Amino acid sequence: MNVEQVVADARARAAADEARLYPWSQPGESAKEMLADLRERFGTAPDKQRAPCPALREDESECDGLSHRVAPLVSRQCGLIHYRNAKRELADLLTTLFAGRVMTDPLGDCLRELLTSRPVDGLPLLLTVLDVQRAKGFRGQSGHVGISGDIGCAKTHALLCLHFSALYSGVRSTWVTTARLEDIAKRRKSYDDVTVGQAEGELRTLRMASILCFDDLGDRHCGRNDEPGNSPIAGVLLDLLSAFPGRIFMTSNLSSEQRDKHPDIGRRVNSRLTADHRGVPAMGAKLKGTDQRKASARSYLERTAGDE
Ligand SMILES: Nc1ncnc2c1ncn2[C@@H]1O[C@H](COP(=O)(O)OP(=O)(O)OP(=O)(O)O)[C@@H](O)[C@H]1O
Ligand SMILES: [Mg+2]
Ligand SMILES: [Zn+2]
Repeated sequence: MNVEQVVADARARAAADEARLYPWSQPGESAKEMLADLRERFGTAPDKQRAPCPALREDESECDGLSHRVAPLVSRQCGLIHYRNAKRELADLLTTLFAGRVMTDPLGDCLRELLTSRPVDGLPLLLTVLDVQRAKGFRGQSGHVGISGDIGCAKTHALLCLHFSALYSGVRSTWVTTARLEDIAKRRKSYDDVTVGQAEGELRTLRMASILCFDDLGDRHCGRNDEPGNSPIAGVLLDLLSAFPGRIFMTSNLSSEQRDKHPDIGRRVNSRLTADHRGVPAMGAKLKGTDQRKASARSYLERTAGDE
């Protein structure tokens, strides 16, 4: 083997190594193209079509989903951060309720549009409640909201509409399930001080919200001998609501009288749920009708709308 041959072999090996380690240095594929390709694959590519963040204020530029740039090295939290988190937190619920339907931002508007007239008693009043609340905005004093009624009559749907409408306008609304209240109640009874402290901390965080959304209050099946308002969940609710200055949006399958008698609610909690808020009386709707989860409950036109 002569010297030229050795040099040529070494060059060929070096070129092969370079091609393996630095693929973008190869002819035809620049580093920029590679990066663009990676960004596209991982969904971080700046989307030229996407509208600028609607929460951007006049002195702010660029939203990265978390914060807005005010000046070099100065940024402010994006006003839609809680809205986006809620979309993530409630993704399973949204998928269960609206699978197959097109969901667009702002979700509050989209959910309101998805509510169509159905033969449900009280639906027109429910729609008015939603429209009044959304028109007033969620910073004003428009009282608590209570929606009660039969199974599958859009109570959760309507509450989601209010929750996402409030969040989109930058108002801190928190979705509270009975499972979460039960979990706090359990941790409060723990013998471990740290666990108790964490549960109390969570209650304090809940009290800091402007709006608390309770979906399906009183949905737990309790023993026949339980006293009204005497369960650990009722204890958590009473402590939470006794010191909560914000507004309450609530749905329940139970009537007010049934809530008074329910172990997880009781008269004292129910009184706070339906109280006036800063002098403004609570608004509500009572729904009566067939379960709209069943296609047979909907009109023929609605059932066939998505079939083309
Ligand atoms: N008026 C309506 N227009 C459009 N969809 C409706 C209407 N009423 C109910 N639905 C649909 O029916 C399904 C059940 O509604 P939802 O879960 O809100 O009922 P619910 O009152 O919360 O029931 P439950 O008491 O079991 O919790 C949802 O997919 C919802 O979108
Ligand atoms: Mg529901
Ligand atoms: Zn933003």
